[in-house]
Amino acid sequence: MNDLDLLIDLHLRNDRQGPGSDAETRRAIDLTRLNPNKQLAIADIGSGTGASSFVLAETLNGHITAVDFAEPFVERLREEATARGISDRIEPMVGQMESLPFSDAEFDLVWSEGAIYNMGFVEGFRAWRRHLRQDGVIAVSEITWTTAHRPAEVESYWNNEYPGIATASAKLQLVEQEGYEPLGIFFLPCGCWEQHYYEPLRSAFPAFLERNGNTGAARNIIKAEETEMSLYHDYGRWYSYAFYIARKI
Ligand SMILES: C[S@@+](CC[C@H](N)C(=O)[O-])C[C@H]1O[C@@H](n2cnc3c(N)ncnc32)[C@H](O)[C@@H]1O
Repeated sequence: MNDLDLLIDLHLRNDRQGPGSDAETRRAIDLTRLNPNKQLAIADIGSGTGASSFVLAETLNGHITAVDFAEPFVERLREEATARGISDRIEPMVGQMESLPFSDAEFDLVWSEGAIYNMGFVEGFRAWRRHLRQDGVIAVSEITWTTAHRPAEVESYWNNEYPGIATASAKLQLVEQEGYEPLGIFFLPCGCWEQHYYEPLRSAFPAFLERNGNTGAARNIIKAEETEMSLYHDYGRWYSYAFYIARKI
């Protein structure tokens, strides 16, 4: 297995692959101001195993296309949709977020939790805009500085991991520049990192190491996750995921 396959294997059995929670997904859905009684066409991009797809399906009417480039995540999402009896409302699809197989104006809502960074925040807002109908809404969570100044250690870690990290005001300006009207922004609370993401991930470490023969590559994956967790423990007040909700204009 290469590193990407190992990473997928580590995250596959958990309910979410990044910080978030069902409650915060619902909070973001509220901010879209979309009519929950209308039949909506929704895309969930970088869906992972479908944490947000299932909340979208519970909260809104319509059809959800869930796209992820990791086939095992997409397969698990498909099985779960079938188990929940909603496979007619969720269409899981293997695909690249950089080249989505969608038409212009196909969706009322484009959703993406913790995934847009893979192509870049501006690049995602720019590329996905054409898939939205007039007055369509985009909702994206993205790692964001909570303050204008940060301790050097956390600054250098994240600038190295993700140079696109910025403050919420800088990100909002980009959203506006790309032709959207902001409808809301909020930071994910600490529980979205610790309780809903890091704790289940930590619990998955022993079985992951055993499945993968405790190889150096598998141990390195765990080490990188532990470094990120310890950084969050020490410096989590300086950054979080922020949810950006905006309407196409
Ligand atoms: C941090 S996870 C978030 C997953 C899910 N949205 C959640 O919140 O649980 C990022 C997701 O993006 C997917 N991904 C990464 N690069 C991608 C790409 N180029 N195209 C599509 N999906 C991608 C990963 O497989 C992963 O499922």
